[in-house]
Amino acid sequence: MQNAAEILEWYINAGVDEALDDEPRNYFEAAEPAKTVPEIVASAPEPVKPRPAARAPAAAVPASGILSSLAASIAEARRLADEAVTLADLEKAVREFEGCAIKRTATNTVFADGNPQAKLMLIGEAPGADEDIKGIPFCGVSGQLLDKMFAAIGYDRERFYITNTLFWRPPGNRAPTNDELAICKPFVEKHIALINPELLVLVGGVAAKAMLGTETGITRLRGKSYTYRTPYMDKEYNTAVIYHPSYLLRQPSHKKATWQDLLAIKTLVSSS
Ligand code: URA
Repeated sequence: MQNAAEILEWYINAGVDEALDDEPRNYFEAAEPAKTVPEIVASAPEPVKPRPAARAPAAAVPASGILSSLAASIAEARRLADEAVTLADLEKAVREFEGCAIKRTATNTVFADGNPQAKLMLIGEAPGADEDIKGIPFCGVSGQLLDKMFAAIGYDRERFYITNTLFWRPPGNRAPTNDELAICKPFVEKHIALINPELLVLVGGVAAKAMLGTETGITRLRGKSYTYRTPYMDKEYNTAVIYHPSYLLRQPSHKKATWQDLLAIKTLVSSS
């Protein structure tokens, strides 16, 4: 029984968490193709056919197919983000968007939580298993730590707004791909403009790299302030970068640095 639970957990962690049929199907019971013993008949050797030349253009077909669908998905996200006038428009557009494949394996679209009027806007990486089930960003274990961190400087979800760089859970909690980040980016850019925060906080290396367009690691990015520009607003947003709470759960020694970052964040937001 214990083994079965472990196997089930392994499947869930690998992203195999969707039932495809109402009834379980045993694929091992499928009829095997008849094994025929090849008849050995003496015959004149076949003339050797010249091998087809390496088919570079054929290999390029699927690649360009993927590329064009990626380009089409980004273009569609951009068009929808351009069109969204209100936050409700943007949320509807994201929920109806079909251009990001991970939506198909996700249970829910995870759009945002918190106060849209807040001065502080947090952007994390992507929903995890708890967020996928509830449809709320940062509602699992790492979200609980994040809430405690911000509560320590006087900010609860009534005083900040929170979203992610992706709106759907990558299967098995794998890292977001560059394509997924590129597809969701127009929505995230419009999201920032519609919230129009006083300070943007990028939570973790993935969000920081994606939004700041850098390859620099989180250890070097945190502890400094940045300006961020969205194509949807003619202004620069003060931006801070902090360690992701799930990283802090694994590496608690970085909590001290994060406390300093939180104190700095507090000074960057006006108190009124
Ligand atoms: N980690 C994130 O980056 N975002 C969530 O919403 C949950 C966990």
